[in-house]
This record gives sequence, structure tokens and C-alpha cells, in this order.
Amino acid sequence: MMADVPYFEGLSEKTRKAIADEGKVISYDVGKMIVGEGGAGVGFYLILDGKVEVRKGGRKLATLGKGQFFGEMSVIDGQPRSADVVAVSPTRCWVLVSWSFAGLLKSHPDMALPMLKELVKRLRAAQSSPAS
Ligand code: CMP
Repeated sequence: MMADVPYFEGLSEKTRKAIADEGKVISYDVGKMIVGEGGAGVGFYLILDGKVEVRKGGRKLATLGKGQFFGEMSVIDGQPRSADVVAVSPTRCWVLVSWSFAGLLKSHPDMALPMLKELVKRLRAAQSSPAS
């Protein structure tokens, strides 16, 4: 399940399996709001299949697909969800609660850098998009 997720690439199959077992896989139908802006959230989501849209105040911020993640912001700082995340195709996510997410990064700090790179990419995209 995790074999083709870039964040887990350098890990042995045994380690990947142990990590995978810490989360659970959840399926969402098209149109399902997985995360709601302003809501409380303790889940970190990694997309295994499908596609989601990130929307804020009705504006589309991003489309995310297989191998990408969302929900990290509230998991990291404990603040309310910053945007809605809606399934736009049948979507399967691997979901990890915040304390497991923190434990994962502590035990596998190499994973943090590619995640930070993705966050920087999103920040640059947000900076270059027209202000709403
Ligand atoms: P969180 O705030 O926990 O819940 C909503 C999620 O949408 C957020 O975490 C990010 O994962 C994601 N998100 C928010 N803004 C953007 C953006 N500009 N580009 C891509 N993803 C975003």
C-alpha cells in the first residue's frame, strides 16, 4: 500500500508495514467533505488513490492526488482547519492521528525534509496566485 508513496521510499518493507499499521485507510465518495474549514482536526491524511480539492471561502486553492498529503497544518499547530478538503473523485486516504504523526517524524526524521519541500512548494504557489 505504501510502496509507491515517495515519503516512505527509503524505508524497508518491514518498517513501511509497521508505519502503515499505525494509521487506518478510509474511503470517500465524490463530493464528500473530508475536512471542514474552521473545524477541529487531529487527522493527517495521505492520499492513496483519487483526488481532492482544497477550497477556502469558495475559492479553489489546490488539487491534490495520489501520494500527496493534507491536514498537516492542524496536526502540527493544533489550530482549526484552514480550508475545506473535498473528494472530487473516489478517494482513499491513509489517516494518522496527530500523536502518531509526531511519533512518526521523531522515529523517521528523514521524512520531514520532503514534506517541508512540499510545504514550501505550496507556499510559493499561494504567493504567486492572485489575492482574493
Ligand atoms: P489543515 O489546515 O489541517 O486542513 C486543511 C488543509 O488544506 C491544510 O491543513 C492543508 O493540508 C491544506 N491546504 C491549505 N491551504 C493549502 C494550499 N494553499 N495549497 C494546498 N493545500 C492547502
